[in-house]
This record gives sequence, structure tokens and C-alpha cells, in this order.
Amino acid sequence: MTQDELKQAVGQAAVDYIKPKLELSSVVGVGTGSTANCFIDSLAAIKHLFDGAVASSDATAERLKSHGIPVYDLNSVDGLVVYVDGADESDKNLCLIKGGGAALTREKIVAACADEFVCIADESKWVSVLGEFPLPVEVIPMARSYVARELVKLGGNPEYRQGVVTDNGNVILDVHRLSIPNPVEIEKKINQIVGVVTNGLFAARSADVMLLGTSEGVKKISLSDEL
Ligand code: 5RP
Repeated sequence: MTQDELKQAVGQAAVDYIKPKLELSSVVGVGTGSTANCFIDSLAAIKHLFDGAVASSDATAERLKSHGIPVYDLNSVDGLVVYVDGADESDKNLCLIKGGGAALTREKIVAACADEFVCIADESKWVSVLGEFPLPVEVIPMARSYVARELVKLGGNPEYRQGVVTDNGNVILDVHRLSIPNPVEIEKKINQIVGVVTNGLFAARSADVMLLGTSEGVKKISLSDEL
């Protein structure tokens, strides 16, 4: 199977997984990126089974609307039954690196509001230790150089993502060569640097379930299975 076929398979698997949890009043949180797009395209087929969605980016909102799925402001909903999103890397504890598409802050906010976080990814994203993928950090523009110097002190090599402005009007530093054996600790440390809006480690709030696309089919990995 190609990587695109694996993305489509996990997008459909996520729809099959969430379908029994949906009620007519349910609002679904939806992530950003090419894998999330596959989910949105499959979700359209069951749009009559739930109320609508909250989007983690302007691009996702546009795609949802193009399928006729109502998009709500997060402040106007009581909660989200589930959040479905892709990832750039996942370890076995379902701690993630996200933000390759620069949507990390809204993704983290929407994930925080959801009863359950379902991550969908092809097997290339499954790693033993996070950090091979450069860690995205969203930064207030005037703090860019200061934050970069602080990230160097943590052992990383930050690179300014040229030409990218987030949906929130900020910039992204991609931190290379940061080995992350302790994601919860590093997530907290980076968030404490003044000028950081958020970083792409989803460890304090990891995924609950991973639907991983492999050549042998979609594997479901749950945190609860590990306990
Ligand atoms: C966007 C993200 C994406 O989920 C992540 O980059 C994965 O993208 P893709 O599914 O296109 O590989 O975090 O900010």
C-alpha cells in the first residue's frame, strides 16, 4: 500500500471507530493535515449522524464546510465527544510530535476539550524515541530570537520556518536534534520559555487511541491496553 492509501485507510478506520459514539447532538473535533483530510472526506458520509465539528485550523474549517458539515466556534459548544487528528511522530505511550502543518496550538486546544483523542497515522510516524522529526514551537514574533537562544540552551538547534505565519499570527521555530526520552518534562520546560505560545509535544495530553496504518492493515493501539 502507498502512504496515501494508508492515510485513507486510517481516515476510514477513524470514522468506523467513532460512529457508535455519535449522537445527533455530538460535536466532533477535527485536526489538520493530509491524514486529517482523509478523515474529513470519510466523515462526510455520516454527517447526518452528528451535529457538527470544531476545526483546528482555517484550512480544516474550509474542508469541513465544503462537505456541508457545520463548523462551530469552540466557545459555543459544551464539549467534544472526540478529537481526531494526525501526527508527525508517536511513541508507544502515544505521546506525539505535531505541528508539521503549523496548526499545533489550535490542535492542542481542541484536543484538550475532547473526551477522547484518536490519533490516525501511517506506520512511518511510529518511533521508539521522539525527536527525529524537528519539534515545532509556535512563538510570538518579537520573541523569536530570544526563544531560539533558550532552545539552544536545552540542546536543540532551532530553525525559523521562513514564510510561515500561523492562523494565530505567530511564527514557528523547528527544533532539530532534540532527543526527547522524557516528553512530559520537555513539553513543560519549553512552554515555560517566555514568548512560547505552545510546542508540538502532545505528552501531558497524549492520544488515547492510535489507529496506525500498516501493510498488514490498521492496528488499534490504546493506552488502556497497556495498563
Ligand atoms: C499539523 C499536524 C499534522 O497532524 C501533522 O503534521 C501530520 O500531518 P500529515 O497527516 O499531513 O502527515 O500536526 O499541524
